[in-house]
Amino acid sequence: MHSYKTLAAAALAACCGAASAGPLVWISLDTDAYALLTERNARMANAEHLPMVVADRQTQVVLTQVDADALEQLSADVHERLHRCGGFIVHANAAEGRQAVARARAVALSPNGLLANAAAPSYALDDGAEVNAMLPLVQESEIRATINQLTSYNNRYYKSKPGTKAATDLATRWQQMAAGRSDITVETVTHVGYPQKSVVMTVRGTTTPDDIVVIGGHLDSVNWQSLNQKKARAPGADDNASGIATLTEVARVMLQSGYHPKRTLQFMAYAAEEVGLKGSADIANQWRLAGKQVVGVMQLDMTNFQGSAYDINLINDYTNAAQNTFLSNIATTYLPTLSVTQGACGYACSDHASWTSNGYAASFPFEAPMGQDNQAIHTKNDTLAKSGGNADHAAKFARLALAYAIELGSD
Ligand code: BES
Ligand code: ZN
Repeated sequence: MHSYKTLAAAALAACCGAASAGPLVWISLDTDAYALLTERNARMANAEHLPMVVADRQTQVVLTQVDADALEQLSADVHERLHRCGGFIVHANAAEGRQAVARARAVALSPNGLLANAAAPSYALDDGAEVNAMLPLVQESEIRATINQLTSYNNRYYKSKPGTKAATDLATRWQQMAAGRSDITVETVTHVGYPQKSVVMTVRGTTTPDDIVVIGGHLDSVNWQSLNQKKARAPGADDNASGIATLTEVARVMLQSGYHPKRTLQFMAYAAEEVGLKGSADIANQWRLAGKQVVGVMQLDMTNFQGSAYDINLINDYTNAAQNTFLSNIATTYLPTLSVTQGACGYACSDHASWTSNGYAASFPFEAPMGQDNQAIHTKNDTLAKSGGNADHAAKFARLALAYAIELGSD
């Protein structure tokens, strides 16, 4: 999977980047991590124990103010002693902290993991004619071309000039693809604290436009081996030009076919995933606050490195079990030559987790079993050549995502 160094760097970047606002910051953390904090005699204030549910077990989390300088040590402690990433969530203030904890508890208590504005849809497979007509239109060469375009930026770091330009260029490209379609809009989402925008293409549904199906992936890249992220070479061909190229191909095929979904489809390229799922967390939270009915989410992050005989590894943690079953039925029915396995990421490893924690049904089909995935990610060596020089593997994910979008985009 990833090296200790990579994880530690990611955890530090993810957890500590936002902690400069003042001497004390609000965080929530589970009681194990809280114990590590008290062991270190970190300066803390206003600790509250709040009810929580983890893996069906009633437990508690602690909401507390802590010295911002203690966070880096806490990240390292959690990684070394508890063998997991991050370990705490930073909140803007006490009220937001309480709200976030209450929401996480409500999601955990909900039998299907869904909150009120995310009722489970029908997962019947009943759009075979459309799916079978459109699957042959997926082209490896198109996906490859997009990966090459995205790796042509020195990096797509969330705070760099090229990373910022990559997002606006993608918006322009999607706009050009949708030219002449009044039912399609392309918008950028501005985030607070960094210049890289997320990009959203919306294809308005013909009969139930309030129901939304999301296909997303992150557009940023990072080189954790460098000390100067803004200048470092970070092609991110697999992580995650591959995912953006895959979902762009799904959109291209739909537009070429003149397909009009009954539900609204949203294609999303998230900013700032590599530094703690920031862009997607912002969007999923905003969509929930706006009461948007997201019926399903597919995450595409690392689709082009074939590390084993398996074609697709369906991630089974921080995802929705019922939708995962639907996806595996889609694969069996429409893509019977693919070999599908399942496994856990072990932590909130990509943007699907942002949707899950906001009470929406998310799935994450991944390129390989854990440990057999691309080991060059987060370095200057995450090139297309490292993934075999073509986009054959990603094309499988484009077909899976296309079938998913058509089946769930209908009803
Ligand atoms: N694409 C990776 C996630 C990933 C890597 C999944 C390897 C499965 C196998 C993603 O871009 C990433 O790097 N995530 C971070 C965590 C995130 C919360 C910053 C990671 O895995 O360190
Ligand atoms: Zn990554």
